[in-house]
Amino acid sequence: MRSIIDFSQGWLYAAQELPLGAPDGEFAAVTLPHSNKIVPHHNFDVSEYAFVSTYRKRFTLPEPLNGRRLFIDFEGVMIAATVTINGHSLGEHDGGYTPFSHDITPYVRDGENVIQVRVDSTERADIPPFGFIVDYLTFGGIYREVNLRYVEPVYIKDVFVRTKDVLSGTPGVEVDVWITNTTGSTVTRKIDMGIDIADPDCNGEVVTLECAANATTKVTLSCASDQLLLWSLKQPQRYGCAVTLEVPNAPVESAVVDEVCVMFGVRQAEFRKDGFFLNGEKVKLRGVNRHQMFPFIGAAAPARLQRKDADIVRDELGCNIVRTSHYPQSRHFLDRCDEIGLLVFEEIPGWQNIGDSDWKALSLRDVQAMIERDRNHPSIIIWGVRINESWDDEAFYTVTNDIARKLDPTRPTGGVRYFQESQFLEDVFTFNDFSNTIVAPKNTPHLVSEYMGHMFPTKTFDGEERQVEHALRHARIQDEMMRRDDVTGAIAWCMFDYNTHREFGSGDRVCYHGVMDMWRLPKFAAYFYESQIDPDERIVLRPATYYAFGDKSNGGGDQDFDFVVFSNCDEIEVYLGDTLFGRYAPNRDKYPHLLHPPFHIGDGQMWYTHRLRVPEGRIVGYRGGQAVAEARLTTDKLPKALTLTADDAALEGDGADMTRLVFTLVDGEGARLPHTHAVVEFSVEGEADLFGVNPFPLVGGQAAVYLRARHTPGVVTVRARAAAFGLEATARVEIG
Ligand code: GAL
Repeated sequence: MRSIIDFSQGWLYAAQELPLGAPDGEFAAVTLPHSNKIVPHHNFDVSEYAFVSTYRKRFTLPEPLNGRRLFIDFEGVMIAATVTINGHSLGEHDGGYTPFSHDITPYVRDGENVIQVRVDSTERADIPPFGFIVDYLTFGGIYREVNLRYVEPVYIKDVFVRTKDVLSGTPGVEVDVWITNTTGSTVTRKIDMGIDIADPDCNGEVVTLECAANATTKVTLSCASDQLLLWSLKQPQRYGCAVTLEVPNAPVESAVVDEVCVMFGVRQAEFRKDGFFLNGEKVKLRGVNRHQMFPFIGAAAPARLQRKDADIVRDELGCNIVRTSHYPQSRHFLDRCDEIGLLVFEEIPGWQNIGDSDWKALSLRDVQAMIERDRNHPSIIIWGVRINESWDDEAFYTVTNDIARKLDPTRPTGGVRYFQESQFLEDVFTFNDFSNTIVAPKNTPHLVSEYMGHMFPTKTFDGEERQVEHALRHARIQDEMMRRDDVTGAIAWCMFDYNTHREFGSGDRVCYHGVMDMWRLPKFAAYFYESQIDPDERIVLRPATYYAFGDKSNGGGDQDFDFVVFSNCDEIEVYLGDTLFGRYAPNRDKYPHLLHPPFHIGDGQMWYTHRLRVPEGRIVGYRGGQAVAEARLTTDKLPKALTLTADDAALEGDGADMTRLVFTLVDGEGARLPHTHAVVEFSVEGEADLFGVNPFPLVGGQAAVYLRARHTPGVVTVRARAAAFGLEATARVEIG
């Protein structure tokens, strides 16, 4: 039978190239996912991590082979990996964003085995995305998980579940199964497919297949059932499809030789000229672009942090789509998108540059690897098969499109460009629109894959005026997107601030392009997106003000910009002290098409004058005439509390699991203090390690550190202290 064994524990690591014979003493013990270098959150150069390193693992076979084949599966190594097993080199794998495997059966033995991996994390011009400048960092190391996989000599290589007649009431399921026969003779196998619903029609279909020697044979099984519920944004119903491989006429106990279960969803996702339709209903796509990087740990984030990012996009930003800019991302992130009903635009690695024919060959390989890895995810609705913002290349992009359509006839292709005249070889014209509005499409279906970004970078420590303008630009572009029937949606640049090269960003090697900071903490622009959430799901009421006296750019003085509230309420009341200042409706004059337009409490000057006399404010949100939310504001901006919040109360004691610990310095009403540059000092008691700067100067009144579990259960206590104000906070996390 098949056996999959987590192989992420017990590795050794050296931050240099070491020969096979180097003593273990030159290495340090690590657990995967692993970053080849822990970096500061900004002000560092790519040379910090762009080097060759060495990973080693000693192991005895966790199970005897018993005639099976043994593979080692790497989910992602940045950016080239040469694996050597017991002295046999398996060659170099190039490319950091897609998985690769090696059949190590001929090289393993009883007793001790040694795997050594030479990891080249330099910016190799021969491997996408490199060869030109790139506006993001790739980081280094064996940064995703590794597994051992035992399979019988005849085994299930892949399963692709396709659905059809989705809206008929009796959806159909077609399951492509590939069987690999590594033996030298033809064999007969039975293949059995079942879906986890009670309907007997979808359980027990069996086909018998002749599998040619040393070849992979494909067979398609199918069924239909009126019990299959649709996967939708609000009810992302998933099903398991189990495929079993059996030896015909064998005794029952030994008949089954392989089993694979894949999750899938039943949904119809269509880009039409007049919009995007999910299960026949028009959905305007509202989203953000996501990079896979995290402060300090680079790209080496464990499953929990990957999943949390999807939750943030869906629940905190209220978006319905995310683009995995500019490469395939962790399976944990995609699994979570499936689970919560968050649509995904996934694309191949690359940025503005197309290399030579060998480089292109790697890119074609990436198209294949991405689609074969991810085509069962119901959340993915489009494949990006162009290098982001590259020039036209008819021959190359004809092939990327052909590969995608052949490997997955169920999804459209897109490919991100920045000029409207670009040759349209794909199914959807995906366009980066930096016009500060939405330009009239030349080609449809049309999806805006980026806007904003470098047009108006905004830092959490910028003044209120800029923060508000940043948020309103996002709002205006989204409003225009909502107006246009010929635009299916718009995906903002970008979810959070990110580390970059010297050619980009603000000089400290950060692009402050996010609607959140790099710790995924909100700017006012995040509040705009959040305010578009369906109020039946959650009420949102976010005043976009720091509410400080006296400073024009921070909401005081002769403020000449409006006081804005982002909310999905249908009315708000603004109080100064106990006095009602005014009752306001969402501003449909400025934003006629948004679901929940921002509220503008107009005439900043008047607002300021009133506030001067009554320094405490209160906003009450109403829905259907009922007060449903309240936000309080104070002009007393001296720090009143330090908060420290762990995203998770418990972690796995596996040496890899991590949670984020957010800390903020707040006023008496809990609002962060963006201009207070205090230092916060951390101490950790218990079996866990902190990733972050310590002591840590607050960035815009907030930031986060990451806590990683060691291998010992117990309670971990983290204390944070802002000595300048005599403020302290404590968080506890249980390691299980
Ligand atoms: C785009 C590019 C993104 C990012 C963005 C900044 O041109 O596709 O990766 O660099 O600009 O606004």
